[in-house]
Amino acid sequence: MADRRKQKSTKSRYTEDRGMPGAFEGETVTRRRMMTGTAHAAGGIAAAAFILPSVGFALGPVFEEVEQSWEPVGPPEDFPDDTYVPKVITLVDGIGETGKTTVYIRTYNPDIDTEPRDEYNAWIALSTRCMHLGCPVRFVAASERFICPCHGGVYGITGEVTGGPPVRPLDRFYTRERNGQVEVGPRYSVNSELERFSPRDPGQPLDGIGPYVYPSRPTIRKLPE
Ligand code: FES
Repeated sequence: MADRRKQKSTKSRYTEDRGMPGAFEGETVTRRRMMTGTAHAAGGIAAAAFILPSVGFALGPVFEEVEQSWEPVGPPEDFPDDTYVPKVITLVDGIGETGKTTVYIRTYNPDIDTEPRDEYNAWIALSTRCMHLGCPVRFVAASERFICPCHGGVYGITGEVTGGPPVRPLDRFYTRERNGQVEVGPRYSVNSELERFSPRDPGQPLDGIGPYVYPSRPTIRKLPE
């Protein structure tokens, strides 16, 4: 008797033993449960067919390897140390004019430049992308200022913010000399102390906790080793 009670208290795998309506002998899953499970599985597969390609399309480029390139822009004597010379470089190959941008270049000047000189900043190459929302800035030699026409952003001679809404100094490009030519390399970002960081987007400050709040994307070009 005790054995029987023990047997009853154990849940049977058969639907018939569990007293389910419409149960068949030897059946372990009811038809209703089978249909519900099949419908859920079909729904999951259909949703994955839409979602997975979208996720792959969105995240794929993030992990893409980006080739690091250096582009010659002219002999060293083309670049004075007290004003900037505009040069056009190609940022993205294969998309024509859209992939080009203007950079302002001058020779490192210890009277102006506060960051230590090293093998990658013998020429200072500043990006023309405003660090507020990305509008192109223009160098005005008479006032030694970079002016952004969009919201009144103003930058000084080293690209430091002197007025308006930009959140950090103008980005820079590494420079070096090869075969008698100044070459412009990967872009990098700087904070207000002109310390270097992997490139960030406009609107992303790099002072204080900024580098942690706005970490660099894995694909963007890293600083040279
Ligand atoms: S985009 Fe330059 S100040 Fe707004």
